[in-house]
Amino acid sequence: MRFQTLMVCAALSGTFVGCSKSAPEAAQSAAAPAPAAQPSAPAPAPVAAVDPKEVFNTRCATCHGASGHGDGPASAALNPKPRNYTDAAWQKSVTDDQIKKTILYGGAAVGKSPVMPASPDLESKPEVLDALVKLVRGFATS
Ligand code: HEC
Repeated sequence: MRFQTLMVCAALSGTFVGCSKSAPEAAQSAAAPAPAAQPSAPAPAPVAAVDPKEVFNTRCATCHGASGHGDGPASAALNPKPRNYTDAAWQKSVTDDQIKKTILYGGAAVGKSPVMPASPDLESKPEVLDALVKLVRGFATS
């Protein structure tokens, strides 16, 4: 038991100053006024406004290259190299769902290089994800 308590303290010490905080104090900070809910708050920007090409250029091109050849500036140091999307044999070997999974969960999730990063935020933007798959498919040469 005692050991567990110590572990919890250690885990929390990043957030709180320590475990010395008295209960009333902690309760007080928990009750800090939350920003009032605004019924007329403006709706979030429509996700359709996200330009998939822009997403590709900012998140993918550094490795996969602006023209999808897997020769982006960050590719030189990588082994295995980023996928060359113009490779027709590779294009035939993967399904759209596999490509989506790679983009959402990263290379490690599909048994590929863990260097290939995940973009889990796109789970809530299926139209951007679909458009990225189309972009990847669009680099195919045959
Ligand atoms: C840090 C470099 C890096 C970035 C950034 C990156 N990738 Fe990759 N990606 C890789 C590497 C390396 C591989 C090759 C993995 C392998 O073959 O083991 C790869 C593989 C892939 C594959 C092939 C998966 C398969 O099943 O063969 C797809 C599709 C892909 N990336 C799409 C993307 C998309 C779309 C983005 C942007 C959202 C992106 N990647 C961003 C490095 C990167």
